[in-house]
Amino acid sequence: MRSTDVVIIGAGAAGLMCAMTAAARGRRVLLLEHANKPGKKILMSGGGRCNFTNMYAEPANFSSQNPHFCKSALARYTPWDFIALVERHGVPYHEKKLGQLFCDNKSKDILAMLLRECDDAGVELHLKTPVQEIEKTDTGYLLSTTIGPVETQSLVVATGGLSIPTMGATGFGYDVACQFGHTVLDTRAGLVPFTITDRLKELCTELSGTSADCVAACNGESFRENLLFTHRGLSGPAILQISSFWRPGDAVRIDLLPDRDALEWLQDQQTARPDSELRTVLSEAFTKKMAGLLAEHWFTSQPMKRYTPADLREIADRLTDWRVVPAGTEGYRTAEVTLGGVDTRDVSSKTMESRKSPGLYFIGEVLDVTGHLGGFNFQWAWASGHAAAQVV
Ligand code: FDA
Repeated sequence: MRSTDVVIIGAGAAGLMCAMTAAARGRRVLLLEHANKPGKKILMSGGGRCNFTNMYAEPANFSSQNPHFCKSALARYTPWDFIALVERHGVPYHEKKLGQLFCDNKSKDILAMLLRECDDAGVELHLKTPVQEIEKTDTGYLLSTTIGPVETQSLVVATGGLSIPTMGATGFGYDVACQFGHTVLDTRAGLVPFTITDRLKELCTELSGTSADCVAACNGESFRENLLFTHRGLSGPAILQISSFWRPGDAVRIDLLPDRDALEWLQDQQTARPDSELRTVLSEAFTKKMAGLLAEHWFTSQPMKRYTPADLREIADRLTDWRVVPAGTEGYRTAEVTLGGVDTRDVSSKTMESRKSPGLYFIGEVLDVTGHLGGFNFQWAWASGHAAAQVV
């Protein structure tokens, strides 16, 4: 029978951070991963360049039924702490936009850095090692695993959410939470493209690959970013962001001319170039293809002088308050995160320890804490992993 101080289940972002930090404190750490490689999501993140944190991360960038929960951990391990680690390892990085920090080279630089830290601190990592059963004992937990029974004082669940099942995502962490009396809040895909099946599908298909600056709004939240038309519907950062706040049946409101007073602009254009076609006028704001297709799809393009004041108002409204009711989302297959999860009301915000079962900890995405797009979800993984590592 193996005996150790800490077992961490899941060698993703949160599990690796927790393992290296706890081991650096002198704890004996066993890190168990069921997949054949650690940190697969780190590798695929940020388009292969890992958006590893956001310089402006603050609690307002996270959604949870318990919005105060994330504050303590985020305050005690900030983006600057992670940046210092990245700099100590000489990993080159840059700010892409809006405080989002990406590797100059590849995401594997971040994974290699974390694995190096784990190795230096003496973490024992076991791949292809699923946990079959967990039992509470007087002194901690007893696990049945494919490397035999393991006895541990502290058990950390870092199994992530349900997104991208092909990368090793499982609902195991939720099952463990339920086993020890926790509530698991309904989960759904977040930061995910919308699918469109109505008439708009044709426009999306024709414009597939085209992007446009916009403000997307739904349920009191709004994001100014790019929208991307796809063969299936709508994607791009603005859509991924708003998808986390969308519920089936809701309309998403999209302003395609966020910097202009659209009506005034159209009126000015009508006066200045009465013989120009609407499609030509719109091509000042959108790509030629998008301008042409919008003009045809929505309004029938004709010379500007032919539009009545009411027509111009309708065109302006359509462009600034375009209401889209998505058929659904692409689901966990492509979602970047899982919304919902282990209810944080039964978890200490300071240590991530269960209030139901002493010595049990939950960190990272398995908890009901979900960041916006832009490096926030990794910052949560680092911060929550670091918080638990101080006490396990
Ligand atoms: P994570 O999913 O990283 O790790 C969980 C680990 O547990 C995995 O290794 C899994 O195999 C393992 N596991 C699961 N079940 C198990 C079991 N039963 N037994 C043992 N092991 C088990 N965020 C961000 O901030 N910037 C970005 O650029 C991106 N980009 C991005 C791209 C894509 C395509 C996706 C899908 C996601 C992102 N994200 C992101 C989100 C980010 O990847 C995510 O929030 C973190 O990886 C969550 O870290 P965790 O450690 O909680 O879970």
